[in-house]
Amino acid sequence: MGRLDGKVALVTGGGGGIGRGVAKLMAREGAAVVVNDLGVTVTGEGADTTPAQKVVNEITADGGQAAANYSSVTDYDQVGVMIEQAVKTFGSIDIVVNIAGILRDRMIFNMSEAEWDAVVAVHLKGTFNTCRHASARFREQKWGRFINFASVSAWGSPGQPNYGAAKHGILGFTLTLANSMAKYNVTANSIVPGFVATRMTDSTPRGQMVLQQTGRTLSEASKGTEVDPENVAPIVTYLATPEASYINGQFIGIQGYTLNLYSHAEAVRILQGTHRWGSAELFDLFPKTLSAGLTPPPLPPKPGEEAPKRRTQLLQEDKSSWQEIAPGVKYWRWQEYFETKRG
Ligand SMILES: NC(=O)c1ccc[n+]([C@@H]2O[C@H](COP(=O)([O-])OP(=O)(O)OC[C@H]3O[C@@H](n4cnc5c(N)ncnc54)[C@H](O)[C@@H]3O)[C@@H](O)[C@H]2O)c1
Repeated sequence: MGRLDGKVALVTGGGGGIGRGVAKLMAREGAAVVVNDLGVTVTGEGADTTPAQKVVNEITADGGQAAANYSSVTDYDQVGVMIEQAVKTFGSIDIVVNIAGILRDRMIFNMSEAEWDAVVAVHLKGTFNTCRHASARFREQKWGRFINFASVSAWGSPGQPNYGAAKHGILGFTLTLANSMAKYNVTANSIVPGFVATRMTDSTPRGQMVLQQTGRTLSEASKGTEVDPENVAPIVTYLATPEASYINGQFIGIQGYTLNLYSHAEAVRILQGTHRWGSAELFDLFPKTLSAGLTPPPLPPKPGEEAPKRRTQLLQEDKSSWQEIAPGVKYWRWQEYFETKRG
């Protein structure tokens, strides 16, 4: 008995990296999987049917059910066909996992319009396209799971204005899905990965260092380690199961073997007036209240320097705030946040 027996999943970007691991684990848990992948380079060039087909072959060799799809998630009509393919081949569509992605990193002052458009098209529009087409069926059948991939780059990675914006857009979009589709027994959650060793990170400074030192790409050298892309698959699969029906509108972070739950944005200071703010009043009161003690965001660390720690990281340094809850498993939660906000 698999935990996803009888379910049909679409995994975009399922031909490589994180998507391959997700497609394979979902199939092992009993889902029939449409493995979508356009087979492009990291920057989104070319097209190749091999990656999706290879993963389908791996799944079927393992006794699972899968079908390949080679379309681009950016093409609204082709994505409609993709959803129809799932229904025609396997009888329904129950789970949509949006993983397809590309990178075109550039500082904002050097970024071309094409670099912006291409990245937003794959990540944000691609996620809209699959969710839009699947949502009509989810609504009808009163069951469904959306799992959309964001990234820690959404918190403001300086050299990724296109990618960071698209990933933050995906978080906002996921919340609207969660709020609009909950009454149809549909959940929508986002995964927020940190660093995962795939070809996407082979070209980073860390990837280049590993290549120089070992002669192997970071993704090859990382198989079986903490940053192996297959490590992301279990949490994605868990969110897709019937047991996860109460988890909706959440952002789940993953870095190596560590999972975390993000808070949602909430007002932390409030200044309430009774009339339109006058400029003298605002100049006087704003610095004493909403902006009191705020410091400018830290500049990114220079090579060799450590990044400044966030408040929660500092709190985590207190060892007594951690509990060992199972052999080899430690649990931490932001006490103050839960005490004041959640009771
Ligand atoms: N690797 C990381 O460190 C990391 C960190 C945070 C978030 N992510 C996100 O996780 C997801 C997977 O990344 P990965 O590291 O496995 O990358 P990857 O490059 O190994 O895989 C991405 C896959 O998407 C496919 N793809 C690209 N454009 C497509 C399109 N238009 N239509 C269909 N398929 C397309 C590619 O062919 C590729 O197989 C991405 O959304 C990425 O932004 C990755």
